[in-house]
Amino acid sequence: MFETRLKDVQHEVQIALDTAIARLPEGALRDAMAYAAQGGKRLRAFLVLESAALFGIPAERAMPAAAAVEALHAYSLVHDDMPCMDDDDLRRGLPTVHVKWDEATAVLVGDALQTLAFELCCAPELGAPDRRIALVAALAKASGAEGMVYGQALDIAAETAAAPLSLDEIIRLQAGKTGALICFAAEAGAILAGEDRAPLARYATALGLAFQIADDILDVEGSEEQTGKRVGKDADAGKATFVSLLGLDGARKRAAELIDEAEQALSGYGASAQNLRDAARFVIARNN
Ligand code: IPE
Ligand code: IPE
Ligand code: MG
Ligand code: MG
Ligand code: MG
Repeated sequence: MFETRLKDVQHEVQIALDTAIARLPEGALRDAMAYAAQGGKRLRAFLVLESAALFGIPAERAMPAAAAVEALHAYSLVHDDMPCMDDDDLRRGLPTVHVKWDEATAVLVGDALQTLAFELCCAPELGAPDRRIALVAALAKASGAEGMVYGQALDIAAETAAAPLSLDEIIRLQAGKTGALICFAAEAGAILAGEDRAPLARYATALGLAFQIADDILDVEGSEEQTGKRVGKDADAGKATFVSLLGLDGARKRAAELIDEAEQALSGYGASAQNLRDAARFVIARNN
């Protein structure tokens, strides 16, 4: 069952992150890192563990990669919420790091969660050195100036752009901001196994786009209780989103088409990819 499996992953990845952070020197930085690394749906960790399972890699062996992508993602959220970016005071149902501590701490927590992610990708249980190097390289590419950070830069620039973004421009923005890390997560199993990443890349490209469409829809229709973050922020900030461009119905329709596309990409894996298919359905049905 997908829900049970996701709950298990949430529990296991939390232990892995808490254990890695507990080893750090004590103080406000460590406390704030542990705080920022709590909660979340853990979809990216789930994708890592399920893609690894496709190639017979057990969860214990893939866990550092699952924890790594969640540490990287948590860093991106801490910085995304800062006053110079989206200026949000609520994340995962709790005050954001810069509100609970201060801005300097939030910058440093993000920095340190990012480097922790790369350290986790070097863990020996992930396999032979060449596989770990491939994983580190893939995470760096997905996170930086051609991946997540690139998408964030386009997102911030769009707030003050003279004309609204076109659909193609929004797709490029999301492919960086949300898509790149989701692609990394879904491809991680193939990277660790030294197998062809192409089918998982096709799956994750469609899934990542559907995921961001759902995030944009939730910003309009979701509640703060369920999402654990402020809603209605995108329109207030004049953000270019799939909803601003396609309308709510158009956005929903596009997301559903993408989920079909994601499922088709998995056809070669047969029954062993069922959890990944279920994850795709979850992405558009979720309310948080
Ligand atoms: C939120 O990501 C930010 C985006 C990239 C759209 P998630 O919706 O995965 O956030 P958590 O990890 O579950 O809190
Ligand atoms: C954030 O996108 C994406 C990253 C942190 C990379 P959003 O700004 O839409 O995410 P939320 O809505 O604050 O979670
Ligand atoms: Mg943002
Ligand atoms: Mg935001
Ligand atoms: Mg959003």
